[in-house]
Amino acid sequence: MKANEEPIIEVTDLVRTFGDRAVLDDISFNVHRGETLVIMGGSGCGKSTLLRHMIGSMQPTSGSVKLFGEEITTMKEHEIIRVRQRFGMLFQSGALLASLTVGENVALPLLQHTDKSVDEVEEIVKQKLQMVGLTGFENLKPDEISGGMKKRVGLARALALDPELLFSDEPTSGLDPIMTAVVDQLTLKLTHGTHMTAVVVSHDMTSAFRIATRMIMLGHGNIVAQGTPDEIRTSSNPEVQQFINGEADGPVPLNLSQEEHQHHRHVKPRPLFGARHRFHHKTP
Ligand SMILES: Nc1ncnc2c1ncn2[C@@H]1O[C@H](COP(=O)(O)OP(=O)(O)OP(=O)(O)O)[C@@H](O)[C@H]1O
Ligand SMILES: [Mg+2]
Repeated sequence: MKANEEPIIEVTDLVRTFGDRAVLDDISFNVHRGETLVIMGGSGCGKSTLLRHMIGSMQPTSGSVKLFGEEITTMKEHEIIRVRQRFGMLFQSGALLASLTVGENVALPLLQHTDKSVDEVEEIVKQKLQMVGLTGFENLKPDEISGGMKKRVGLARALALDPELLFSDEPTSGLDPIMTAVVDQLTLKLTHGTHMTAVVVSHDMTSAFRIATRMIMLGHGNIVAQGTPDEIRTSSNPEVQQFINGEADGPVPLNLSQEEHQHHRHVKPRPLFGARHRFHHKTP
């Protein structure tokens, strides 16, 4: 990283509320070229929400997100499409199109954003699937492959345009330890070899410490801790220690506090048992 180089991502004073609950409550950080930033934190703390703001698919309540020096929170859809060609995104669910084959899913960004020939697209699809250990799976549908395989197809698709920036939401969840290592090696190779920048959400501490150059832990809508993997490992913050050591007892509560539940009141209640007909169309 050159000292005077502009950050690739600048998140400044980002606030996002749902109802009256601030899921992201004044978050600021930068990401520089070549970094692998791992974002961690408990389930429901706002990691995926933060990523959605970073790719311009959600609008913040207030604050700014700049990608490659451009403000994306106020961009029009057609301008965001231009910026989207410079990064790849692996969604937590994989987000594959069920009606398309594995190969067609990976080909999609190439068909949408380039004028490559069918032969060239096929070659790239083959190469990307090989990178994630899925050679020969082109013609299966998403329903015909496992959860971990869907994740890897999602990764192959995110890498289809050789992005300079990759966002991955839980890339290794559902993968066995060997496949986790394969995906981690791939991230390391891409960030070292071609200076790709990566922002990875991960619960998997082995994987996180293997790939991160910097880590951010989210909690209570804020950044609880940030630093190099060594700084995080030796952090004196008990929340960080509880999280990275996977301990059930500690300062991180298991359930939402009652106060946080109150904040969910904006969600319209839907009677669970009054709606039997939703499950049983014929009642005797
Ligand atoms: N569109 C939405 N409308 C209302 N609330 C939302 C919306 N999107 C997210 N939330 C709320 O924001 C909070 C954070 O959700 P998010 O998906 O970002 O969590 P996460 O940290 O990615 O969790 P996990 O580790 O389980 O994937 C949750 O309480 C969720 O209910
Ligand atoms: Mg999530």
